[in-house]
Amino acid sequence: MKLSTNQSQRPVTTAISQNGNLMIGGCDTVELAKKYSTPLYVLDEATIRSTIADYKSAFSSYPDTNIMYASKALCTKAVATLLDSEGLGFDTVSAGEFYTFYKSGVNMAKVLFNGNNKTAEELELALDLGVGRISVDNFYELSLLNTIAEHKGRVADILLRVTPGIECHTHEYIQTGHLDSKFGFDLTQIDSAIELILQKYNHLKIHGLHAHIGSQIFETSIYPDEIEILCFEISRIAKKFGLRLNEINMGGGFGVKYVDTDVPPSIYEIGKLVTDKLKQCIEKYNIPPPTLFLEPGRSIISPAGVTLYTIGSSKQVPHGRKFVSVDGGMADNPRPSLYHAQYSAQIANKKSSSKTETITICGRYCESGDVLIKEIELPKTEAGDILCVYNTGAYNYSMASNYNRVPRPAMVLVKDGHSDLIIKRETWEDLIKNDIVP
Ligand SMILES: Cc1ncc(COP(=O)(O)O)c(C=O)c1O
Repeated sequence: MKLSTNQSQRPVTTAISQNGNLMIGGCDTVELAKKYSTPLYVLDEATIRSTIADYKSAFSSYPDTNIMYASKALCTKAVATLLDSEGLGFDTVSAGEFYTFYKSGVNMAKVLFNGNNKTAEELELALDLGVGRISVDNFYELSLLNTIAEHKGRVADILLRVTPGIECHTHEYIQTGHLDSKFGFDLTQIDSAIELILQKYNHLKIHGLHAHIGSQIFETSIYPDEIEILCFEISRIAKKFGLRLNEINMGGGFGVKYVDTDVPPSIYEIGKLVTDKLKQCIEKYNIPPPTLFLEPGRSIISPAGVTLYTIGSSKQVPHGRKFVSVDGGMADNPRPSLYHAQYSAQIANKKSSSKTETITICGRYCESGDVLIKEIELPKTEAGDILCVYNTGAYNYSMASNYNRVPRPAMVLVKDGHSDLIIKRETWEDLIKNDIVP
């Protein structure tokens, strides 16, 4: 099966310069660190475009497929503009996310608003800004959205988020499609929801079903299972209620390769399994071909991103391990402390030499759990070296905090040897700008 970018640990443009420095997007990462300071998020445009090309080609045998980038992975105006230029739609889970797309000039009909506890204020704004679909998660929200739409004299275009009862093997915090989950309607609750929409909630128009099984998934068999369940439900609803649903949103969750032992499936394999299954189900259940929506987040943006840090202090524990500290850590990348996520890294200014050491890379934050990489073999490190951590494009900046009152890092987009600042580094002044002393 053809390889796709989610199966590579590094951006597609990763190279070594003549002087031995790590290059990404044609830019010398040591020079980037000097120019923009560290920690620095670096995003490689070529990797993002190549991933999207993989998706488009992998699902091309079912032409009515729409890729909705799950913007929780990384949501900035530059990312919105870039992905919009590729024709993607957008999955959002807060007003902050869909407002970013609105301010980036995206056609809001291509935006979906999803989430298990959307506020009334957010739902109002979604209707006002013309968000294309709202994926309604529960009975409370059906009633709330209907009331808001009625007050505005509008009809809200919705999907129903359902929990298909599929367990996947990923970290329990990022499983969502199993029955004991806070997300979506249980399959046994769908009929009551449809009855309410058809008989009581005149300001809701339902277009389809939405599911999402989990994140960082390596199993392939669960996607055809999910398609089977969604198609079965669509045919059952058509028979029982005479209601034709034209849209299936299968969510995202496609895995990436953080470390050598990760073996995510190719997007091409997933594309073939899903589109074959969908075509079979259309025949089997005799349903009109629905529009298929996918919501990849991590797999679109993670491999394109790296974080550059400067190495500072180190500590050799007598008869124990060696800790090497960098100038960032759990506030710019909370995933290792949240999920025990693993990462790979390289010293950007040193050729891989035979003289290596096994070290623990820790952050600068006041928590013993602030460890970025537990054990890694790298060329002998010294203060001032630049460490490049791979696959940090997703769920790093978007989950970053100001813990310990440290400003969040800057982000640059690199392409063909050129770099553009796309997120400014926060200043100490930014940190106190909302403080009020009564
Ligand atoms: C509904 C929904 N869609 C899409 C995604 C994106 O998942 P991933 O970034 O793993 O592709 C998520 C992530 O949790 C999600 O909750």
